[in-house]
Amino acid sequence: MKKNILVIGGSQGIGFSLINLLKNDYNLFVVSRTVQQLSTDDITHIQFDVLNEDLETELLPESLDGFVYCPGSINLKPFKMMSLDTIEKDMQINFFAMVRLLKGVFSKLSNGSSLVFFSTVAVVSGMPYHTSVAAAKGALEGFVKSFAAEHAPKIRANVIAPSLVDTPLSSRLLSSDKKRAQVAERHPLKKIGSPNDIAAMAKFLLGEESKWITGQVIGVDGGLSTLNIN
Ligand SMILES: NC(=O)c1ccc[n+]([C@@H]2O[C@H](COP(=O)([O-])OP(=O)(O)OC[C@H]3O[C@@H](n4cnc5c(N)ncnc54)[C@H](OP(=O)(O)O)[C@@H]3O)[C@@H](O)[C@H]2O)c1
Repeated sequence: MKKNILVIGGSQGIGFSLINLLKNDYNLFVVSRTVQQLSTDDITHIQFDVLNEDLETELLPESLDGFVYCPGSINLKPFKMMSLDTIEKDMQINFFAMVRLLKGVFSKLSNGSSLVFFSTVAVVSGMPYHTSVAAAKGALEGFVKSFAAEHAPKIRANVIAPSLVDTPLSSRLLSSDKKRAQVAERHPLKKIGSPNDIAAMAKFLLGEESKWITGQVIGVDGGLSTLNIN
């Protein structure tokens, strides 16, 4: 029987790539505000804003074997221009909304289920202008490690920490050939991440082949967080 995976935010970006990688092998339940590029033939789509509502769990199957939380933000500004409002909003979308959803579906998580979350390379490597997103994703990383410890061996939970990936979320940072070339050049592997680069790791973490991996923060970042080649 196919396993059930809930993907929060699968209408575009990394989540959308993940849906395409998973759709033949799993029953997919996808939550997002819009459908965007998503074809609803192969999946169950639930229209929902994670910031405003509690998810109606009657729309979900009795048990879930996977949970993926994609919504996030990239608000980069010097600290003196970073408003408290921005920091609070980043905390809401990256952290509190995720915790609320996870609480909502917690009783459905099966024995052997796998949870996947997204952080950023800017938590492990301090980067200028990243105070808000690094704080919000840092909270997420700490939460996931503790959650993984508390729920092993029944539930596995891991975090993927990407560098810049070519998705709608990062479009302002990659809006010209010059910016794209500069971003690619900063990475030891000399390229910008593709949504598939990240989705492939998420697929691995959801599946049986990663069954001895939990509580990890895995960099998928073109080598940026660990290699200094300059
Ligand atoms: N792209 C990057 O460069 C990058 C780098 C490091 C980390 N990350 C992290 O990776 C994750 C995925 O990023 P991405 O680039 O794929 O993002 P994205 O292109 O913005 O896609 C986000 C997905 O989440 C959904 N979503 C956003 N807000 C929502 C809300 N309020 N309620 C329900 N669904 C919502 C969106 O669907 P709707 O708009 O249809 O609701 C969309 O399907 C994020 O957590 C991000 O912080 C990304």
